[in-house]
Amino acid sequence: MAPHRLTSALLTSLLATILTAGTTDAALLDVPSPKNYVRRALARATVLNNHVYIEGGQITQYEDGFSSIRGRVENQVNSTLSIPLNESWKSESVTIKATPKPFESLARNRWYLWTDTKNGVFYAWGGYWPFGLEMVTDEVYKFTADSRGGGEWGVETLPNGLRLDQISPGEAGAVTSTGTMGIVIGGQATPWTQLGRDNTRQLSGMITFDFESKALMNGTQKFSPFGDTPVVGASAEFISGVGENGIVVVMGGHVGRTDKEVPLGEMDFFDMRNVTFLRSLTACGSIGRNRTTDWCTKTLTFSACPDFALDKTSQHHQAGRAGCLTTHASRWATDKVLSVGGRGREDEIQIRDAIPQGLLLFDMTATEWKLEYDSNAAAYESANAIKDWYKKR
Ligand SMILES: *[C@@H]1O[C@H](CO)[C@@H](O)[C@H](O)[C@H]1NC(C)=O
Ligand SMILES: *[C@@H]1O[C@H](CO)[C@@H](O)[C@H](O)[C@H]1NC(C)=O
Ligand SMILES: *[C@@H]1O[C@H](CO)[C@@H](O)[C@H](O)[C@H]1NC(C)=O
Ligand SMILES: *[C@@H]1O[C@H](CO)[C@@H](O)[C@H](O)[C@H]1NC(C)=O
Ligand SMILES: *[C@@H]1O[C@H](CO)[C@@H](O)[C@H](O)[C@H]1NC(C)=O
Repeated sequence: MAPHRLTSALLTSLLATILTAGTTDAALLDVPSPKNYVRRALARATVLNNHVYIEGGQITQYEDGFSSIRGRVENQVNSTLSIPLNESWKSESVTIKATPKPFESLARNRWYLWTDTKNGVFYAWGGYWPFGLEMVTDEVYKFTADSRGGGEWGVETLPNGLRLDQISPGEAGAVTSTGTMGIVIGGQATPWTQLGRDNTRQLSGMITFDFESKALMNGTQKFSPFGDTPVVGASAEFISGVGENGIVVVMGGHVGRTDKEVPLGEMDFFDMRNVTFLRSLTACGSIGRNRTTDWCTKTLTFSACPDFALDKTSQHHQAGRAGCLTTHASRWATDKVLSVGGRGREDEIQIRDAIPQGLLLFDMTATEWKLEYDSNAAAYESANAIKDWYKKR
């Protein structure tokens, strides 16, 4: 090779290296290295095929491992993330797998995930577009998981029930899945939750999505546990072991209004001592079934608050994170809870999370927060404090 050709080849490869390095350096990552991780917020999580899937939300990251924030402070996450549950890991070093999404409208904050565990699928609807940008027409999306922590996105067609333009997609509803259907109770619709919407309204009632018939229903008048009262920011959890079809437990949230826009800070809270139980009376899932009268609800008021429920809350206080608004805890066995990301005050988004990669585990047997996951842990046993409490009463 002639010297000048060698030089030019070297130069080309050097330039390529510099350009690639430059690009890599400037690029934002959905999963920054643990040392560059600052905060993850507004994500949601679910469990399928022995993996935790983490969906949506925004990420803040350093570029130099300690001070310089890369890009816009918060950036929307553009991949579907996953963490394996078949092997043990530590929050500080676990590899989070990122699967890029086929279209950008799939970047969403706090969206509703309905999990059909049996079929290895979750559906995604509602939530809001980060910064209200790049909004598109409302759809119900479907993610089909593979066995390696990845999977495929698609748009679900809805042959039965209501059309999407007959309901208002919102956020901050109480979401859960019963195994045969997804549920959202309450929430609020804003200009960032629906393309073309110009006002904010709290939503009453309960939306259901049947995994088999793909029918969306709005049960405001017929089967909502709260009737016309909008519930904003509550939590719902399905418990399968109770009764024939299991029960849904609803707790917390704000009392909204349907007639005008009310800032969250001016709404009353639902009393945390009131816990609402919701039960489907018939076997779910048969196509075309009229389910409008198939629910019964009951609200119980608990006056005694067990000591064990109070005395652990100070642990990890320095890592306090907003409850249902910015953190999503995903419960995949009776004994483990994973909290993903979150923040305390709004401005904490720029302060590095004390929890490595934002992954905080709660061990329900030991009633302790942990920074590692043990895939071989023994089966769940009630914590001693809980056993004692029951023994005494
Ligand atoms: C995701 O994509 C959007 C739009 O292209 C971009 O602005 C944002 O920075 C990306 N987020 C990350 C973490 O790379
Ligand atoms: C866990 O599952 C992954 C696939 O996601 C596989 O590559 C890995 O070998 C499995 N680990 C164990 C310990 O079975
Ligand atoms: C369900 O219907 C009620 C009554 O028509 C309406 O006020 C509410 O906004 C609807 N819910 C949704 C999520 O569209
Ligand atoms: C809690 O439940 C009790 C009994 O049903 C009821 O009287 C009270 O109004 C409820 N409080 C709230 C804030 O919902
Ligand atoms: C379902 O049942 C309700 C109450 O009986 C009735 O008003 C409604 O028309 C029924 N809907 C369908 C689709 O059959």
